[in-house]
Formats: sequence, C-alpha cells, structure tokens
Amino acid sequence: MTMHPALAVCAAGMLLVSCGSGHDSGTPLYKDPSQPVEKRVDDLLSRMTLDEKIGQLNQRSSWGGESATGYFSKEIEAGNIGSLLNVDPVSADSLQRVAVEKSRLGIPVLLSRDVIHGYRTIFPIPLGQAATFDTALVAQGARIAAVEASADGIRWTFSPMIDISRDARWGRIAESFGEDVWLTRQMGRAMVRGYQGDAGNDSTSMAACAKHFVGYGASESGRDYNSTFIPERQLREVYLAPFEDVCREGAMTYMSSFNDNDGIPASGNRHVLTDILRGEWGFDGFVVSDWASVAEMINHGYCADRKDAARTGFNAGVDMEMESGTYIENMKALIDEGAVKMDDIDRSVASVLRIKFLLGLFDNPYITTPQDVLYAPEHLAAARQAAAESAILLKNADETLPLKEGMTILLTGPMADAPHDQMGTWVFDGQKDHTVTLLDAFKDQWGGRVKVIYEPGLAYSRDTETSGIDCAVAAARGADAIVAVVGEEAILSGEAHSMADLNLVGAQSELIGRLAKTGKPLVTVVMAGRPLTIGKEVEESDAVLYSFHPGTMGGPALADILMGEISPSGRTPVTFAKTVGQLPMYYSHKNTGRPAAGTEVLIDDIELEAGQTSLGCTSFWLDAGFGPLFPFGYGLTYGDFRYSNVKTDKNAYGKDDTIHASAVLTNSGKREATEVVQLYVRDLVGSVTRPVKELKEFRRVTLAPGESVTVDFDLPVSELAFYGQDMQRNVEAGEFTLGIGPDSDTELSCSFTVK
Ligand code: GLC
Repeated sequence: MTMHPALAVCAAGMLLVSCGSGHDSGTPLYKDPSQPVEKRVDDLLSRMTLDEKIGQLNQRSSWGGESATGYFSKEIEAGNIGSLLNVDPVSADSLQRVAVEKSRLGIPVLLSRDVIHGYRTIFPIPLGQAATFDTALVAQGARIAAVEASADGIRWTFSPMIDISRDARWGRIAESFGEDVWLTRQMGRAMVRGYQGDAGNDSTSMAACAKHFVGYGASESGRDYNSTFIPERQLREVYLAPFEDVCREGAMTYMSSFNDNDGIPASGNRHVLTDILRGEWGFDGFVVSDWASVAEMINHGYCADRKDAARTGFNAGVDMEMESGTYIENMKALIDEGAVKMDDIDRSVASVLRIKFLLGLFDNPYITTPQDVLYAPEHLAAARQAAAESAILLKNADETLPLKEGMTILLTGPMADAPHDQMGTWVFDGQKDHTVTLLDAFKDQWGGRVKVIYEPGLAYSRDTETSGIDCAVAAARGADAIVAVVGEEAILSGEAHSMADLNLVGAQSELIGRLAKTGKPLVTVVMAGRPLTIGKEVEESDAVLYSFHPGTMGGPALADILMGEISPSGRTPVTFAKTVGQLPMYYSHKNTGRPAAGTEVLIDDIELEAGQTSLGCTSFWLDAGFGPLFPFGYGLTYGDFRYSNVKTDKNAYGKDDTIHASAVLTNSGKREATEVVQLYVRDLVGSVTRPVKELKEFRRVTLAPGESVTVDFDLPVSELAFYGQDMQRNVEAGEFTLGIGPDSDTELSCSFTVK
C-alpha cells in the first residue's frame, strides 16, 4: 500500500516523533505509538472481525440523541460505528471513552461536524473569504476553526467546499469560493492546511473533507440537487481541478456529491471515485458519502433497492456511508455473494484507520483543548480582519465614502442589526449573542464620534410591511448621510435554498428607492449569501459596499470601512449578473464564433419593424446586452491604483520554462490602500476552444499614497496546459496574450509564444 505523498508526510512526522525502540510485545503493535502508521494499520486490521470492519464504514448522526437514549454508546461499544456527526459537546468525550475503553479493540470514533466557516467564532461565509483573495487569512481562519472545534471533541470537518459555482440561483454558492478555478484551487489548499495543521502531533488538527465530489455546482438551472451534464473535458478542466490540488495538499477525506452527472450519481461513479481519485491522483485517505447519498441512488433510479445501493456505492469507491445505513445492513451478504470483495473492504477500512492514526486519535483520543479558546480575543480579531478584507466596494460616487466624524448618520435596513442572519448559512455553533452588528459597532465604537439615528425600516429581509419605511424616510431629514443595510436572511442561501429571482426580497428595493429620493447621500450595504441583481439599487445609491454574510465580527469590520479606518480591498469572487436570465455567467467563457462587439442595439433602441438581420448576429441578450453588472475580480479601494509597464521577460518560451511577468503599480490616491493585482492569460488557438481569459496569479499589494512598486509574477508554462482532443493534459505551442490588472476586464496587453 503506497501512501499518498502528502499523507506520507504526516505519517513520517509521526514516525520521526516516535521512532526508536522496537515493539514492546506486552501491548498490541497497533497500540504502540513508536511504530510506523502503516504497520499499526496492518496489525489492527489483522485483528478485526468482519463485523468490526464493516462498523468502521458506518457513520451515524447523533443530533444530541445520545444523552436521551444511550443508543450510540451501545452501538459504539459493539463496534458498529466508525464515525459520528453532530454529537452534542457534552457527550463527545464520554462516547469516545466508550469506543476506546469498552469496545473490543479500542478503536476511537471519529467525531465530525460541518465546521464550514468557523466553529463558535464565525468567519465570513466561504464566498466572502474568497473575496479577500488572501490565502494566508483563509488558512488562519481554518486553523482557528479547528482549534475551537477540537475543544468540543470534533476532529473532522466537512470542509472545504470547493465546488466551482457559476450560477447564483444555487443557494450553495454561498459555501463555495465562487466561479474561478485558480482562486478556488488556492483557497481550497489554504483551508486544508489550516484545518489539518500539524496532523498527528497536534490534538487541534482536524481532518479536512474536500466536497462535493464532483460537479455539484453545475446543478441545472441552479436548483439544488438537480442533475448536471458536464462533459469529461470540462469536468477535468473546471470541476476536478481544485480537488486534484487539495489531494496534493494532503486532504485526508473526500465527500461524494448528491448530483447525477450525465446519468451517473456521484456516489456510484467509479470512474471519478476510483479511477481518477485513487488511480490517477494516488489518494489513500477515505471517501465519505454525502448525507444518505448512497441510499438516494434508489431515488435516482440508478439502484433497485438498499442492497443494490450498498453494492454500487461501495464498489464505486465510497468507503464510509453517512447516515443511510445500507452498508451495515447489507455488506456481509454482499461479501458472501461475492458482490463485494474482501480485499476492497480491507482497503477501505485501512483508509479509515489510517486517518484515525494520522490524527493521533489512538494515542490522544480525548479532548485536551481548553474551553477558553472559544471566542478567544485573537480569534475575534482574525474574524474581524477577514470580514473587513471580504467587503467589496462596488461604487463610491463623489467619494461619498468614507463618512466623516461628527456626521449624523441614519442607520436603516433589516440587516443593520441582524445578529443571527449576519453569520450566514451553515452555522450550527456560532451564537448570535456574540455577533457584533453594524448598529452595535456604530453605538459602541463610534458613538462618541458620530450621531446615529437607527430606524430599521423593515423588520427582516422578506418583510413587506412598509410602514417602517415611512419612519426611516422621515428620520433621513435629520441626517447628513444614510447607511441602508439590506440583503438576505441567512436561510435564503445554503443547502436546498435556491432562488429563481435574485432581486432584493421583500420591500427592500422600495426602501432604497424612497431613501434615494430624500436626496441625502445614500450608502447601501448588502449582506447576502450570493451576488444579487442589484442594478437598480446601485443606480439609486451613491456608494455600495457588498458583504457576503460577514460573520460574528461583521459589524465592526464594516463600520471601520464606512468610517475610513480601513480601506476596502475585497474583490468579486463571482460575476455579478445584471439579471438572473444571464445565468450561468462567468468571465472565463469561450469566445464563440460570434462574440459580442459591444455595439449591439438593445431593446429600447430597436426601430419598429426592424429587419430580421438588422441587429447584428452576435452573442448577446436584447434586453441585457452582453456584459455583467460587475465582473469577476472587481472592487474599488480608497486609493487610486494605476498600472504601467506590464511586460513579460521574453516573447517566446519553451514548455518547461517559467514566464516572468511584471507590472508597475502606483497608488496615485490620497491614502494607503490595498490592491489585488491579478494576472490573466489567453491561449489564442488550441486543439479545442479555449477561454477568453483565465486567472493565473493574484497578489495583495498595499501602497502608501504616491508609492510605486514593481509586482512580479512567475508563471510556469506548464500552468497553460489543458485537455486536448486526445483528453491528454498538455501545453500546446502557439500564441498567447497576458495582462496584469485590477479585475477580469483587464486588457491582455502582452503577447508571447510557446514553442
Ligand atoms: C449535507 C451537505 C453536506 C454536509 C453533510 C453533513 O446534506 O450536503 O455538505 O457536510 O450533509 O451535514
């Protein structure tokens, strides 16, 4: 059994820590921490009964039921459960003691949970974390989440979610890093590093779980759980790419997804789960199904019954079954019938045991992290920084922002003081009484320096009771500026929460419209789980600040930006469409044979009885043109950044070369600010059509007013490879263009050749 290089690093670390004396025959080898992981796995496997092996492949959810019935204690003692999710913290250690001290072989149970963007201290939702373009900060957030979760016994999280998401109707775009392969690759690796830390030597390490494997973000029409139709080339180029990266980063587990792609449910797709994940990438952690996704292959019409589902899921490569219980129910019979091979069972069980050994659970199974790590000041500070860096300044007409001390500010809108909804989707453990809202921040942090009038206008995002709007409009008369905080309640994004219309819900748009008519400077802040179609509100507002549910410390972070303590630096991790009808929409699209010229006549300007071909036959919408509301990578700052001297060090490269590209960046503004410098490339001709642009590097650069710096990038030519007609991944010789700039509209001003 060859261990995947990254996992081997963990195991080597453990070996180095514990190498030395031979095995003391008094204790079973697998219990001897001085032994190599693989030897311990093999020894333990040799001692296990078939029932105990099958038990390791069974994951159940407790939802706090333990304290009521003791059911899980009995099941764990009998060796029927390898992992539990959703255990209440009170039961975690007691259940682990049952596993370690009462079960026959003392195999620890793997306690898991959806720790998606923080445990108690809640960070921005992953879409917001992507907007920071700050991988170090994202890794830090994951590390903090692992430390806090380990205090309640959790050692496996179902994160990072690295589904490429290009359709904002899909509620789970909130959990993703957005539309871009390069950005998602970097963010996924950062989270894996953060969660897993120094696995094996650190009881706060938490196994990562790369999900949802694979293609779930392409759910047709953005309706959750819907089918996907992704051809092999796009599957590899777009949807598999981040999963391949995190495999190299050492992700310990993967989760199979709900969707059927081209007729094959992901939990029954051997080509992906085994041929690619294990065969091509050498993964030897384990794969867990999504919640009941094995049994749901019956609903898909892909399996006849639970036994067929167990056989199909296991033989495809799903090692551990989450919640639906078909494995524990049918595996012995399937083995007896020869429908499942014992060698495969041993390989699966070995992969589960390996992760438990690599996490150090056999040697330190109980909670050692103190409770005072929860909401630790340094954790809250990191969450505040993440919330600040995730905020995107979309508009700032006449330098409306930053607001000035001494002003009277009307703070309004249903999200201005929404401690629960500010945390966003997938929050089980963040407590709303720890949330600091924008109202809290203005009162507590700025109370002495600005006068704040608070009139919510609406009680919650879907509210249609407009009498409160009258109060807000009336209050505006006494204000120097208005800050209106609108968006989405947390429940309107996330799993099973897709939307067919992306305009502001409830009477929020009416609120913005009527506030705009007061003539006061209007700053609209949006807190949401997705990019909304806010073109009307952008028109009506003087400034717009977008915050993908910013988490526990969103209030102080946004107040710091609004009052100028911090310059905004967030960038759109996903394209903002003008209208939902444009979706799916993303910058790295193909050029087509008839690209839009940008001169198209739109619906309001079409002459009566216009001739059939009079409008120009190019690729655009009559009622929406071609472009988005805001492009990928877009965001304003309080600086004024200029790019010059964009160049490459050569104009021809071999396939093994590295492209050295650079640009001079100058802050011509009046204050220090941070720019996210982005490098894009285009392959002009390929054996298959290529995207008009692809992000291939980015860097956050902070400059003082007047400061200039040369920003250098080193891009291996190998990163220009793609899957050709032969489905082999190669760099093809030819002409390329390259640009360095502030967003995906950047002009590709350099040309070079690959020989
Ligand atoms: C859910 C989600 C998955 C989550 C799992 C456990 O249905 O699809 O992302 O990790 O079940 O809660």
